[in-house]
Amino acid sequence: MDDTTANPNSLPREALPGVLVCPDAAEVARTAARRFVDWAWQAIARDGQFQVALSGGSTPRQMYRLLATQEFRTQIDWPRVHLFWGDERAVPPDHADSNYGLARRELLLHVPIPPGNVHRMEAELTPIGRAAHQYETVLRRFLELDDRGFPVFHLALLGMGSEGDIASLNPGARLLRETSRWVSTPAMDKLGTRRMTLTLPVIEAARRILFLVTGAPKAAMLRVVLCGRADRGLPAQMVQPRHGERIFLVDEAAARLLPAEAPAAASPPEKPKKRS
Ligand code: 6PG
Repeated sequence: MDDTTANPNSLPREALPGVLVCPDAAEVARTAARRFVDWAWQAIARDGQFQVALSGGSTPRQMYRLLATQEFRTQIDWPRVHLFWGDERAVPPDHADSNYGLARRELLLHVPIPPGNVHRMEAELTPIGRAAHQYETVLRRFLELDDRGFPVFHLALLGMGSEGDIASLNPGARLLRETSRWVSTPAMDKLGTRRMTLTLPVIEAARRILFLVTGAPKAAMLRVVLCGRADRGLPAQMVQPRHGERIFLVDEAAARLLPAEAPAAASPPEKPKKRS
């Protein structure tokens, strides 16, 4: 199911290398759902499984809902899909703020995924540090490791906060310099609570990193992330896949401050004129 079957008017335009712009949030969700199906087929054909770290926040909701529809759910070999989370709030799974809870309501309850393939972060447990350690054990059990010993997801799905935060990695956080741990439990001072999150090296080890960014309130930060000065404290800008690809799937509202034209691909250097 590739984009060619889509309504040509809704085909994403490439605003910058790896930055695909759809007309609106609904098309972002539809394009993301199509890519999910494609990448699931590829991963299952190659590795027998499709291992995905789902994103929290509100932006992926439409995509989860679409994947649960007859049109999409029948395209996916769910018994071969394993779902993990990029981050979680320190609340029970049935709490309104639970990232697992959102995915369960919108997706898991509607697709034939075996319960043993759903690996939620038990961030409500105390001490949360031990729960983070337990989650590392789960990752070690199901995921291959890369050349640096980090677990490799086939797909890491990410949202981007209006401050450039991703998962539960906040701008300027010391955790952004983490080089060994896979899972951490940062304090969210503004919220007076803790979170559980994958660390940057784990996110960057993913074969594919897909950002979903929609809405005008994200436009200023998206421009900074994609066109601004390099900032070693800005999580959304820092994510550089080590072996895979990074794609931003955004809507026109979020893309409104990006350069109008994708910078012309640098013309190949002139071939030296043959001496006559
Ligand atoms: C979370 C997320 C967080 C989120 C961004 C964007 O648990 O809140 O993982 O990183 O993706 O803040 O949030 P929205 O999609 O709600 O704008």
